[in-house]
Amino acid sequence: MNIVLIGFMGSGKTTVAKRLGEKFGFQVLDTDDLVEKKAKMSTSEIFDRFGEHRYRELEVEVAKDLSKVSNRIIATGGGVILNKIILDYLVCRGGKIVFLETTFEEIVKRIKNHSRNRPLFKDLNIAAELFKFRQPIYRKYSDFIITTDLKDTDSVVTEILEKINNEN
Ligand code: S3P
Repeated sequence: MNIVLIGFMGSGKTTVAKRLGEKFGFQVLDTDDLVEKKAKMSTSEIFDRFGEHRYRELEVEVAKDLSKVSNRIIATGGGVILNKIILDYLVCRGGKIVFLETTFEEIVKRIKNHSRNRPLFKDLNIAAELFKFRQPIYRKYSDFIITTDLKDTDSVVTEILEKINNEN
């Protein structure tokens, strides 16, 4: 089984994935890292040189590679929900999709505190539009929704574990 974390930029997918990996003893993967590795360049460079379209193609390729593995915790890029096939690949050997739901206000605070370069979070108004557009899609594709505002990583991880244990 894979546990796949989805959610907007800054929702805490990478941090939560690391902690979940420790709890489950599963290897942790991050689609953003795997895209950069495949392209041999940074996310910003891919966007600048080849456009978002190329980034999305690489995400699909990475997900296809991951369709062969299981027992992984997978943190995804915020835009993977734009190509449903990515999620299909990630859970095709069994898995759960967990949406880390965070308000836009909280995301803005968190992103300010992170220097990581995010090509789609340069303009606050555009980011807010993206956020609004994507919320229903994250909800639609998730097995579980965990709200993360005002919660520390351990609380979020505990909630995910509870949800998964309740299913089994
Ligand atoms: C993106 C989110 C980023 C990264 C890329 C595009 C998006 O990942 O995949 O910059 O479209 O929301 P994080 O959600 O890990 O920041």
